[in-house]
Order: sequence, then C-alpha cells, then structure tokens
Amino acid sequence: MAILPITVLGAPILRQETKPVTEVTDELRALADSMFETMRAADGVGLAAPQVGRSVRLCVVEVKDEAFALFNPEIIARDGKIRWEEGCLSIPEVFGWVERSKWVKVRALDREGEDIELEGSDLLAVCLQHEIDHLDGKLFLDHLSFLKKRAALAVWEEEREKYPDGLRLLVPAKGVDEEL
Ligand code: NI
Repeated sequence: MAILPITVLGAPILRQETKPVTEVTDELRALADSMFETMRAADGVGLAAPQVGRSVRLCVVEVKDEAFALFNPEIIARDGKIRWEEGCLSIPEVFGWVERSKWVKVRALDREGEDIELEGSDLLAVCLQHEIDHLDGKLFLDHLSFLKKRAALAVWEEEREKYPDGLRLLVPAKGVDEEL
C-alpha cells in the first residue's frame, strides 16, 4: 500500500470516461488498498481511480464505519433530493452546493469480483454519486450553475498555483473534513 499523488483539476484524465474492469485482479485490489490509504491521508470520504492517475472503473468510499471498494459501480435506483456542500480531493479548497438524490442503490463488483448491491442515503448517497460521476469524467463543478461554477473556478485559479505539476502530494493526517 502506498499514499498516491492525487491529480488535480486540469489533468485530462479527470475528464475521461474510465474503462470497465473485466476481472478484479490482485493488482486492482492493491490499487484499491492504496486508494483507501490515500483517501484517509487526505481526510476524504471517497476517491475515484482517475484521481490517482488510473482510468479504470473503480472507486472507494468510506462514510462513518462503512467502507467499500467498488468495481464497475452503477446506480440502479434513486429517490428523493438533497442539497450538500461538496468538495473534491482533486479541487482543494473549492466547494459548492450540489443537488443530488437523497437515496441511491448501487450495483458493483466487490474486491472478490462478486456482484453486490448496496444502498445509502444522505452523505453516503452523495459520496456514491460524486465518485461514480468521476468514473464518467464528471466533476461536482458540472452540477453548479454558470455563475457558481465561475466563482468556484476563480477560487481554483489561485489554488492551482500550489500544484505546478498538477499533482497533490499528501502526508498522513491532514485536516480537511469530508472532501470527496
Ligand atoms: Ni471528487
């Protein structure tokens, strides 16, 4: 396991559709483990493979005591509406209110390659939708109104100077809550 560099906004991989996983291999399980470690180092609640430079359909989420590595996740049911102020580990210091479904059911493969279904509401639902968006090359910014997006990008213009290589390097235990 390793803490991996996180790609930040501007990296083309964040805008690409990811490749489905055909088989959950040891290499992909190790990648998932490193993604958990990276997410925890950043105090995040979710992380998608493109954020660590891999264009594969894999994300990890950890909300309260529930942690999942999800391969090929897809939303198969949703209900209700909720607004949540979201951030993203790939867009540090930028936040925005996004409307999402309040409850979702997701189908995926687990780390053994078995079909699983899980459901979540509130933060877990928001997190699942945010991470699955990443696998389609979509970011929370895309859910903001034109003006809100422009304001968010203005904040990012200043922030991005901290990441001249387009990578965010983490040390264990930073201190930002609930970035996805
Ligand atoms: Ni994100």
